[in-house]
Amino acid sequence: MISDLILTDATEAAHRLRAGGVVAIPTETVYGLAAAVDHPAAIARIFRIKGRPTTHPLILHLADPAQLPEWVLEIPPDAARLAAWGWPGPLTLLLRRSARVPDLITGGRDTVAVRVPAHPLARAVLADAGPCVAPSANTFGHVSPTTAAHVLDDLTARLDEPHDGVLDGGPCEVGVESTIIDCTTPRAQILRPGGISTEEIHTLLEGRLEQASGPDRASGMLPSHYAPGIPVVLCETTDELDLAVATHQSRGLDVMVIGPHVVQGTADLAGYARDLYSLLRRAETEGRQVIIALLPPAEGLGHALRDRLRKAAAPRP
Ligand code: TXA
Ligand code: MG
Repeated sequence: MISDLILTDATEAAHRLRAGGVVAIPTETVYGLAAAVDHPAAIARIFRIKGRPTTHPLILHLADPAQLPEWVLEIPPDAARLAAWGWPGPLTLLLRRSARVPDLITGGRDTVAVRVPAHPLARAVLADAGPCVAPSANTFGHVSPTTAAHVLDDLTARLDEPHDGVLDGGPCEVGVESTIIDCTTPRAQILRPGGISTEEIHTLLEGRLEQASGPDRASGMLPSHYAPGIPVVLCETTDELDLAVATHQSRGLDVMVIGPHVVQGTADLAGYARDLYSLLRRAETEGRQVIIALLPPAEGLGHALRDRLRKAAAPRP
């Protein structure tokens, strides 16, 4: 069935946002559930629609890096470098917020997370509707959506036609969320590994980069997040994987195995990232009983994949 919520036109999506609606939009990472930053009632609905605590702050999405100064108090030199190099793209920068940023989106913190996405539809919507907040368009704690159908699976009953919508831009190219970098500390810190690799950022900043420490710096750092509704078993090697599959199958369990395709001796991490969330969701809809996943090496996109797989495997609260 084709949902009445589905839109294919960025102009219509922007129109609904300007009128105070909530619209899921495609980005190159995952689909985001957008509301215009100057519509507090729509932002409040985002928290209700997702079932997300209002203490979990939202990322502000801009059409153009030139808009950044309006929303932040200062742009430290390394933040300026990161923005010039990584925007538009799967990169989110945490900066000290200006008075223009509503409390509602920061959970009362003095920082704001900002991203300029690269997806042409997202950019067209943001250029037309103005800056928007957009958390991933899933119910809180569930696997992030990488297709419009995933968004509808989670949110159809919670969105209102004709005020809201889901802009269909096909499957997301990157497939895991943006890399979040805290630029308010003396050295930049990675709060969430994502679509841009740690190594690239390390090189760009000439080593001025630290791993974030301490719990709860960003809500995506909660141990159980991005979780499918079935157990996930993680394996470091193919030998471990083969053993885990044999053990679970011998107990009569319906197993889904996931891991990177190996192309000419090299693991295809971009493909693994693109497909991961679809596979986790498919395991649920197919009624599989256990997911057995091969962890990729901790390099490039492998950092983000390992992070999301660990969170998918963590015990539910
Ligand atoms: O790729 C992405 O980043 C996607 C697309 C839609 O842009 N968005 C996304 O948003 O992943 P969300 O809300 O699912 O995750 C944003 C993360 C949360 O872990 C949140 O706690 C953290 O960013 N965050 C946002 N503002 C923050 C702030 N001021 N301080 C610390 N963490 C913040
Ligand atoms: Mg999320």
